[in-house]
Amino acid sequence: MKAVVLRDITNSDDIVLEEIIRPKARKGWVLVKIAGLGLNHSELVLRVNEIRADYIKKPIVPGIECVGTVEESLDYDFRRGDVVCSLMGGLGRNFNGSYEEYALLPVNRLFHVNSALDMEHLAAVPETFFTAWGSLFESLDLKSSDVLLVRGATCALGYASMQIAKALGCQVYGTTHKNAKMPLITDLGCKAVLDTEYSLPEGFYANKILELIGPKTLRDSLSHLYHGGIVCHTGILGGEYYLNSFDPIKEIPNGCYLTGFFSNFPTQEIMDAIFTFIDNHNLIPFIGASFPFSCIKQAVKAQERGIDGKIVVMMDN
Ligand SMILES: NC(=O)c1ccc[n+]([C@@H]2O[C@H](COP(=O)([O-])OP(=O)(O)OC[C@H]3O[C@@H](n4cnc5c(N)ncnc54)[C@H](OP(=O)(O)O)[C@@H]3O)[C@@H](O)[C@H]2O)c1
Repeated sequence: MKAVVLRDITNSDDIVLEEIIRPKARKGWVLVKIAGLGLNHSELVLRVNEIRADYIKKPIVPGIECVGTVEESLDYDFRRGDVVCSLMGGLGRNFNGSYEEYALLPVNRLFHVNSALDMEHLAAVPETFFTAWGSLFESLDLKSSDVLLVRGATCALGYASMQIAKALGCQVYGTTHKNAKMPLITDLGCKAVLDTEYSLPEGFYANKILELIGPKTLRDSLSHLYHGGIVCHTGILGGEYYLNSFDPIKEIPNGCYLTGFFSNFPTQEIMDAIFTFIDNHNLIPFIGASFPFSCIKQAVKAQERGIDGKIVVMMDN
């Protein structure tokens, strides 16, 4: 079968499809015929940097999410033809991920999909909507009465978060560092805030802030919370990963909260809730570009250039 295999730091020009042996199902591991996969910022980080870390299995097929159908299973809960998705939990880091035609996936990382969406739109859901959902509900405890700010809103995760929060009935603001991108936020019914200097406008306050730029703007976000408000640190788009000399006593305002979200622990119950919410609110995941698997190099290059919306890659047959 065809797969992208990474052995070390790899330039996007050097992405190729190579032939590898198709694995077989075994107890606790199900063989999935991949139908589509979404690209993620963290796969770019893996390819250009993280791959050298000791905890990454090498060689590795990257890709932290996919949708597809069960091809072979020794497990009673998964039958040939079942529509499934998988995400995180070591996928594309500790064991081979989704940039391949068939993936051998552990049953505890495999979830049944019950959705009205077609496969292409389903491919845009698992990691992006799970992270948005967890950040908004588990970490930010989002309620319809909330004023939510999505900081760094013009990324796949930002669009999904704004779609969910709008559907819930929240007042939603999104920031962008590019004037030309403001319509992408307002088109979703949200208010756009220009954030070129990484400093929110004086007098602007929200009670829930989803921080996707990361340590670069976290201090500023904390200072724009209403009393009782929460910042959830989920993204690192700003390219800074750590907050040096952070003084929690002085920098987390009294009566405000700082939390985070790590998308490593999806469950069937949460995935069911997400697919039901998407169907009930007629949400259409925002796909920025779709590529056939034979053109995965072009997909990865488009990711480097930056695409508005989720990039999906669909298998050729
Ligand atoms: N905590 C978790 O478990 C978790 C899970 C998933 C994703 N994430 C993180 O969430 C973030 C979004 O992920 P994604 O996969 O949705 O990303 P993505 O769709 O690949 O989005 C990347 C785009 O973000 C845009 N962006 C917006 N504001 C930016 C800024 N201030 N600086 C740089 N770029 C900015 C860039 O476009 P423009 O510059 O043209 O606007 C860039 O093309 C990433 O940092 C990712 O690592 C975290």
